[in-house]
Amino acid sequence: MRMRQRLVIGVALFAWWCPVAPALAQAPSPHNLMPVPASVTFAAGGFAIDAHLGVKFDGYKDARLERAVERLLQRITKLTGVPIVRSGNVPALRITCGRGPSGVQKAVEDERYALRITTGGATLSAPTVYGVLRGLETFVQLIEQEPNGFAVRAVTITDQPRFPWRGLLIDVCRHWMPVEVIKRNLDAMAAVKLNVLHWHLSEDQGFRVESKLFPLLHQKGSDGLYYTQEQVRDVVRYAADRGIRVVPEFDMPAHTLSWLVGYPSLSAGKGPFELARAWGVFDPVLSPIDEKVYAFINRFLGEMTSLFPDAYFHIGGDEVNGNQWNGTPAIVAYKKRHGMATNEDLHVYFNTRVSAMLKARGKIMVGWEEVLHKNLPKNTVVQSWRGQKSLADAATQGFKGILSNGYYLDYIWPATRHYGVDPMGKDAANLPDEAKARILGGEACMWAEWVTPDTIDSRIWPRMAAIAERYWSPATVTDPGDMYRRLDVVSQRLDATGIVHRSNYQPMLERLAANRPTDALRGIVDLVEPVKDYNRGRRVEYTSLSPLNRLVDAARPESDEAREFERLVDALLADPAKSAGRDKVTARLEQWREDAKAVQSVLDSPLLQDAAPLVQNLTAVSALGLRALDALQKKTPLTLTPEETESLAKAIAPVAEVLLMVAPSVKKLVDAAK
Ligand code: ACM
Repeated sequence: MRMRQRLVIGVALFAWWCPVAPALAQAPSPHNLMPVPASVTFAAGGFAIDAHLGVKFDGYKDARLERAVERLLQRITKLTGVPIVRSGNVPALRITCGRGPSGVQKAVEDERYALRITTGGATLSAPTVYGVLRGLETFVQLIEQEPNGFAVRAVTITDQPRFPWRGLLIDVCRHWMPVEVIKRNLDAMAAVKLNVLHWHLSEDQGFRVESKLFPLLHQKGSDGLYYTQEQVRDVVRYAADRGIRVVPEFDMPAHTLSWLVGYPSLSAGKGPFELARAWGVFDPVLSPIDEKVYAFINRFLGEMTSLFPDAYFHIGGDEVNGNQWNGTPAIVAYKKRHGMATNEDLHVYFNTRVSAMLKARGKIMVGWEEVLHKNLPKNTVVQSWRGQKSLADAATQGFKGILSNGYYLDYIWPATRHYGVDPMGKDAANLPDEAKARILGGEACMWAEWVTPDTIDSRIWPRMAAIAERYWSPATVTDPGDMYRRLDVVSQRLDATGIVHRSNYQPMLERLAANRPTDALRGIVDLVEPVKDYNRGRRVEYTSLSPLNRLVDAARPESDEAREFERLVDALLADPAKSAGRDKVTARLEQWREDAKAVQSVLDSPLLQDAAPLVQNLTAVSALGLRALDALQKKTPLTLTPEETESLAKAIAPVAEVLLMVAPSVKKLVDAAK
């Protein structure tokens, strides 16, 4: 495997890209595909993308595939500005699809495809519609800008996913996400070959689906912010059109405050209950010993399973803290009577009953790793989130599993950190093959405590694309430098799917600056990242009603500028004699010094109230960096006063809930100059 990968990359690097106009021949360039296909080999030649790009089906064809081709043409027009006519064209892309779908999309489908591009045109062949959908996305990614226009290079690609389950969880409960947010994210998901939307639909903070059987669920549990059943069906259809399954999650028995507002008698404890506005793990929980509760859940599942055609149904099961169960004498007595030593024994009793209700409706239960128990029905899928060990444990015990630990987007980690997490890594790596086969893939999680429709796209994208590559591409594709190079391109191109991860940045900055000039502010916000893990909210108290419109919300999860600055500093320190590197570092430090001055004119904005110390830190960092450069050049050791040393430490620490990401690189310069 490793040998073949190397060979393929070698061929790609040495292939001489002959553009459409030979006079404009360029140096060979690496490709921008993400996820990287299983096998890709470039050759000489290619063809131009022009208004006459025609598409023809040779084999199986249906309305879904025709809609996919129409979307492809629209996206190409968006990316290139080339208006493509729909009739009378010479087919440049011929699609051969082996067969239509057999019923609802399953967890494992054949997603293979082969894409061959020559000077004469492109052929995309796949055994199933799913392969065609994935291959069309590769075709769009192959379009490159040339001096003379747009073109695709000659290439032979054969491709299939490494894992069948490649998902994104979107929490629509902590903050409500309207249908258009979900739809634009489905388009972006399809662009990087993700195939599962895990829709987290109920929580302590909100119950987000209309229930006709139990209307107090959405009427009292949602602040009026819920999906009608018709909207749910519409989203499910929209996803299916793109080859994406929708797995709903209704979290129980904990995380159910929103159910209990309207139906307090389901609780193990006493009501009345109110929707949660803050974040955390709360005591209220369903009663596991009350037959009325099971009758309710049974009818509820009857209604909800009919809305969601997917075979898998997620019942949550996380974070049952047990306080109410321990504090309810009838539950304590029940446990004793039935020989249940622990709350985990009681929890698995609950899960077994729910699993049977789902099974009776042809559904397979999915639960968070807390459901793992020796008595859990073996057809349950276990989703690991607290560590990778539970994934290996589940697989060893005969359960199928999905990995989410390491893929929490709300931790605001850099893409490369998520990229380094492999569903088959760590504990799973040493499993026997038959246990490994139970690991279906992974899901990134976009929990919504600190996102709104305004900001959610920027927290998912572009980092999600790097994770999608981990789920799709061969395990040997691991180079972070090449990942970032391609991620940059993919991020720009994802705009054409409708997500606003880039396009909402400037309007947010304008709001921060109270509609005054933003150049200096942008220069500064470009250098920061939100605090990591769950450090947000440790200093400032947030609820679901707090505005998320401050500097930390505008800041991107990863500062490309800080990463580039670190690279420049490392290169300079490795070879201090090179003046070009020093000039680049100097220019940046001077620019920041100017930005820190110029931004003063907008710092009186109400939304920038907490930003002044950050600007002071940047002023200090710029000055120290410039002095360090000077000292390095003159080879005179730099000495700092205790105040200066402290100001550098302060600049590295969080302020206004952001991290000044260039400060550690300046410290490197200062340390080298000492
Ligand atoms: C979880 O993060 N409680 C699944």
